Amino acid sequence: MSHRIARTALTVLALASIATLAQAQQGKLKVGLMLPYSGTYTALGVAIENGFKLAVEEKGGKLAGREIEYVKVDDESDPAKATDNVNKLIKRDNVDVIIGTVHSGVVMAMAKAAKESGTVLIVPNGGADAVTGPMCAPNIFRSSFSNWQPAYAMGEVAAKQGKKTAMTITWKYAAGDESVAGFKEGFEKGGGKVTKNLTVPFPNVEFQALLTEIAAAKPDVVYSFFAGGGAVKFVKDYAAAGLNKSIPLVGPGFLTDGTLEAQGESAQGMLTTLHYADGLNTPRDNAFRTAYAKTFKLQPDVYAVQGYDAAQMLAIGLNATKGDITKKAEFASAIEKAKIDSPRGAFTISKAHNPVQDVYLRKVEGNENKLVSVAVKGLTDPARGCKM
Ligand code: BEZ
Repeated sequence: MSHRIARTALTVLALASIATLAQAQQGKLKVGLMLPYSGTYTALGVAIENGFKLAVEEKGGKLAGREIEYVKVDDESDPAKATDNVNKLIKRDNVDVIIGTVHSGVVMAMAKAAKESGTVLIVPNGGADAVTGPMCAPNIFRSSFSNWQPAYAMGEVAAKQGKKTAMTITWKYAAGDESVAGFKEGFEKGGGKVTKNLTVPFPNVEFQALLTEIAAAKPDVVYSFFAGGGAVKFVKDYAAAGLNKSIPLVGPGFLTDGTLEAQGESAQGMLTTLHYADGLNTPRDNAFRTAYAKTFKLQPDVYAVQGYDAAQMLAIGLNATKGDITKKAEFASAIEKAKIDSPRGAFTISKAHNPVQDVYLRKVEGNENKLVSVAVKGLTDPARGCKM
């Protein structure tokens, strides 16, 4: 080796060590996990945390050379406690980044606090359209979906199937209202008509009176948004009332994701739309599913994928800033330019920071939401009201 080559190699090594030293000096990255660890959405919160931690472990337990310290808050899916809970993470614990949450009402309070404080927020579920609409901000990202996305796709599918009338039934809060609005938009564009919207307060699961109303009205199809424990109860009650024999029940995939073992026979044959499905059978998804099952002794679902991708997005931003999350513009720009290598299929992030992604049509077979087809390719949320 000539002296010049040796000197260059030494300089490269020295620069690399300085970079590593600088990252080490930044200390641990404090990640605030604000998720539901109690109530109807508990399983969703756990799956998100599992997915996030799996991605971090696959990167050697560090992101951009920084070790991770987790601080956890149970948000109880309670919007009334959301501002206090998120401020504990921002002001008391001084976290570098917040990952959360599931419930749209809680997510909106988190987005407000993140926008005011400038703390980076990555939303691994909560679909509130406003978060990547009027509340959009350079430091707020979503690894999941907007409530409009899977709902609009299901509206298109139902209209293409020739259904003419639909009734909707959901919890009365942002996610339910926006899901129903997205379905109505897609369905009515295709020539259908939503005849009635039925609601119950969140997280109520007393459906009998409303099921009686559906039976009497006999629409061509029923569209429903419920998730977690509430979805299990609703799908079982719908079948127990005998309605699944005469009026197909459809919805965004939350109605049957992570719930099939508990729903059993009552969910068989149901069609739903979502940005994830069983049986994608890509090398990327197969590797993820094997690793997840091995680590947690559980099958992954859409929530696990969204948690996993939140960590992947965080890693992309941190790698571009050499671990320095205070370099907000560089952090955001790296995520905006990235193609995220997700188990769901690669996706990009829109200008409003929401995934641009394929929405799949799935059919329940046994304990799986089996891929039927791509319902809408590369679906972008309209991001109404986002000025960024
Ligand atoms: C939401 O509140 O945005 C939500 C909750 C569970 C599943 C999907 C969306």
